[in-house]
Amino acid sequence: MPYDMRRFTRQRHPDGRATGESATAPLLTVTGVTKRFGGVEALAGCTLAIAEGSITGLIGPNGAGKTTLFNVISGLTPADGGEIRLGADRLDGRSAHAIARRGLGRTFQIPRPLGRMTVMENVLVYANDQPGERLAGVFTAPRYVRAEEHRARARAQAILDSMELAHLASARAETLSGGQKKLLELARVLMSDPRLILLDEPGAGVNPTLMRSLVETIRALRAAGRTFLLIEHDMDLVTELCDPVIVMAQGRTLMEGPFAEVRRDSRVLEAYLGT
Ligand SMILES: Nc1ncnc2c1ncn2[C@@H]1O[C@H](COP(=O)(O)OP(=O)(O)OP(=O)(O)O)[C@@H](O)[C@H]1O
Ligand SMILES: [Mg+2]
Repeated sequence: MPYDMRRFTRQRHPDGRATGESATAPLLTVTGVTKRFGGVEALAGCTLAIAEGSITGLIGPNGAGKTTLFNVISGLTPADGGEIRLGADRLDGRSAHAIARRGLGRTFQIPRPLGRMTVMENVLVYANDQPGERLAGVFTAPRYVRAEEHRARARAQAILDSMELAHLASARAETLSGGQKKLLELARVLMSDPRLILLDEPGAGVNPTLMRSLVETIRALRAAGRTFLLIEHDMDLVTELCDPVIVMAQGRTLMEGPFAEVRRDSRVLEAYLGT
């Protein structure tokens, strides 16, 4: 059975509300997205929908196209075809910067902090619309600029606190462990206050203690209205955090559902075993 987006609507509204109502409209919709690299069809008509307020897991075997999908959604790599929307806004065809401004944040599978800057500076560079960046403002409204910078710093501090990175605020980013760099990536993304956050393997290389603060941070952010789509190979983390789970294989969505169901599905087992 091909992946059917209407299932999504029904699943979210077991109370029988009419489908297609605006209350059921997904936050992110990806429709028939394709991306080819030479002979490799990384995305072969990928279709999915992400409910606002969900923590949706994206799983699938290596090379399924998960990271490519993130790159295409976030504007890092242009799609060859298909359509991507955040709410009613069309994202495909826009620059990564324009997409970020519309409320999309993402982290990378391999974290890439600015190593020579401190942890605090790394977070501050992601503050949206820092008035200090507009040179004229420094001369015309220095007090306003200082107040804004103060606010940004307080916000950065609060974010670092929530991730137990505050004690490292003045350390150079390059001195952090792999797991701490992963958390720093999320901290940077949060500075721009995105509606939808794409996390590429947030648990990879994160030790159990940091994993707890990662899980709690993601839960608290969801409770505050944020939506997550996260790629993860750590099935314990998927079990704990994600509902629903979308399985990708060979550039397409294979199925969607609660992880307990998905993990028993023969198509999913086949995709993982490569048979
Ligand atoms: N820039 C690129 N140039 C050429 N091929 C690429 C490029 N990016 C991805 N691919 C290919 O596209 C396919 C999908 O890769 P992708 O990185 O999206 O998989 P993934 O699902 O994220 O895998 P993993 O779980 O291992 O991270 C793979 O065959 C990969 O080799
Ligand atoms: Mg990947």
